[in-house]
Amino acid sequence: MTNTYAIVLAAGQGTRMKSNLYKVLHPVCGKPMVEHVIDHIRDLDASRVVTIVGHGAEMVEKTLGRKSEYALQSEQLGTAHAVLQAETVLGDLDGTTLVVCGDTPLISSETMKALLTHHHETKAKATILTAIADDPTGYGRIIRAENGDVIKNVEHKDTTDEERSVKEINTGTYCFDNRVLFDTLKKVNNENAQGEYYLPDVLGILKSEGERISAYTTVNFHETLGVNDRVALAQAEKSMRLLLAEKHMRNGVTIIAPEQTVISADAKIGRDTILQPGVLIEGATTIGSNCVIGPNSHIQNSSIGNYSTIHSSVVRDSQVGNETAVGPFAHLRPDSQLGNHVKVGNFVEVKKSQLGDDSKVSHLSYIGDTEIGQNVNIGCGTITVNYDGKNKHKTEIQDNAFVGCNANLVAPVTVGKNAIVAAGSTITKNVPENSLAIARVRQENKEGYVKN
Ligand code: UD1
Ligand code: CA
Repeated sequence: MTNTYAIVLAAGQGTRMKSNLYKVLHPVCGKPMVEHVIDHIRDLDASRVVTIVGHGAEMVEKTLGRKSEYALQSEQLGTAHAVLQAETVLGDLDGTTLVVCGDTPLISSETMKALLTHHHETKAKATILTAIADDPTGYGRIIRAENGDVIKNVEHKDTTDEERSVKEINTGTYCFDNRVLFDTLKKVNNENAQGEYYLPDVLGILKSEGERISAYTTVNFHETLGVNDRVALAQAEKSMRLLLAEKHMRNGVTIIAPEQTVISADAKIGRDTILQPGVLIEGATTIGSNCVIGPNSHIQNSSIGNYSTIHSSVVRDSQVGNETAVGPFAHLRPDSQLGNHVKVGNFVEVKKSQLGDDSKVSHLSYIGDTEIGQNVNIGCGTITVNYDGKNKHKTEIQDNAFVGCNANLVAPVTVGKNAIVAAGSTITKNVPENSLAIARVRQENKEGYVKN
């Protein structure tokens, strides 16, 4: 096998998006579109991946980090000019170069592999990935000879009436013999409707020079969508959402309403987990097997164990153990860790806190900057008073402690092992282990006070 290289075009502004965010950084299913492209390419074992950056270069490089090398296109003179900027990195190498646009997030690694295979089998110098579109408006059209051979691509704005009726389009993905690519790019001119150097012109030039070029037509038209505006962005989102849902369903996840379930591209979900309608899973979230994720739950960059339930709740940057129940209407804020068999119930907010195995905070509590041991019960309405207006302080509640309802634990404070805090107490001093703390005004009854 020859070496494979990849070039991703990501230097354009994306004028048609009408956005302050550079086009290729717009997220689809929670991940910037150019990152989808790069991640799909990473499945191909390409030995070098070069992203062409220009508009927003710094942000694009920051987003992709070390997943790619970069070449700068300081003026956006067209896609051929963009590819030419990779010459300093790839120009001297033998091999096959795949070129993909950073605004086609749905092109799968399988389709790219099929394109590469076709390219090698046909021994072509250049192969273009095409698709048949019901509405080809805006795409380049593939012009073929009567015998079916590809002659060239014509950009939408340069088409004659006859060419415009062609439904076979350029998807913006190609492979080339690497050296032939850089030699031919220098022959591309910008005499066209947009005054740009068009990459697909390379094919027409090679053909006219008698070289072998070929086309591989994918049946997966939905993969080839180029996102130029927000309407296409929503289409890409929908396609990817359904593709991801399908992948998880095939792996054994039940999704009650796939259309109303949003799962990020990087999420992992175990078998026999059920996602109920309105679930939103973002970032690199991992959910184990046999969980129930209830309606309208929002889980972001978190991990959930096995046999756990998240019911109509928000979980962000947190870890939840096995057989643990969260919600309904709970909020786990960043840096919270719940052990196994834990319960965090209705209207409970947890922030930067740990709850050990078998502990429960069942109703209406705020737990912040707190370390809770194992088998602790926190009564309804209990608040950890962690903020004095300037600084945050820690609360520690040790194993088997029992905190009665409506207690205030004014941090910094420790409730020792097996200790009991009486309901309604405002605790300002440490409670030693095995003791009962009562800190509330004694009740006084004024009999006969009410005169009838
Ligand atoms: C391009 C193709 C068109 C194809 C379509 C598929 C050309 C001339 N046209 O059109 O045949 O049907 O994609 O989606 O190639 N870019 C740069 N530098 C530039 C210009 C563009 O890096 O100077 C990048 C853009 O950021 C974008 C990609 O190249 O990611 C494609 O550019 P875009 O302007 O979207 O091309 P289309 O008009 O969609
Ligand atoms: Ca485009």
